[in-house]
Amino acid sequence: MCYVTSKRPLDRACHRSRTAVIAAGTVLGLGLSAASLAAEPVRPDLTPKLQGLLKKEMIQIELAMHEIYSAIIQGRHAVVAEKGQAIHDSFILAQSLTDEDRQDLKAAVPPEFLQMDGYLHELSASLAEAGQSRDTARQVALYAQMTESCVACHSAYVTDRFEGLQDAEIPAGWGRAPAEQESGQGD
Ligand code: HEC
Repeated sequence: MCYVTSKRPLDRACHRSRTAVIAAGTVLGLGLSAASLAAEPVRPDLTPKLQGLLKKEMIQIELAMHEIYSAIIQGRHAVVAEKGQAIHDSFILAQSLTDEDRQDLKAAVPPEFLQMDGYLHELSASLAEAGQSRDTARQVALYAQMTESCVACHSAYVTDRFEGLQDAEIPAGWGRAPAEQESGQGD
């Protein structure tokens, strides 16, 4: 969902959003304490179109994650690279959002949601690189971090659908870039 922070074409938008995520994490550090993650479900505030697109994207991401798992444990590095890149590029949403949709999305979700999304995309870009460099240990580490980010966002913002995550004890660092964690500490 790198489309969120920029209206530019996909690739540049994604790069820009990676920078923006880190910058936002530094600026908004105060708002990122663990307590702020006990948040409200976002779905009721999304337009029907956005809800539909988000759902489709999530299903695609989960499929890609399954394929990546299988590829990592069998050393199929090219597949890890390709699917990591596919998550980064976020197939459907990036292509189907109008400017108005982007505005709607920004208005509907809190900044932390967008930061978590940005961080997931940052991780998936790193995973694509780890696929390219045939670095299995790094692939495994990044896969775990990506899984943490799924759980962190779902347990904060999608508890209306994933009730089992409602009372989950989620470590504060999950789903957050290291820069965000540092600035959030001690507040
Ligand atoms: C920034 C927040 C966020 C992150 C990160 C995130 N999700 Fe989601 N996910 C959502 C939201 C919101 C929904 C609910 C969509 C709906 O039902 O309208 C959802 C729903 C889903 C669903 C249910 C789709 C369906 O309706 O059948 C799956 C599967 C899913 N996510 C997979 C993942 C995976 C895998 C990851 C990590 C690689 C991930 N998500 C990361 C926000 C997130």
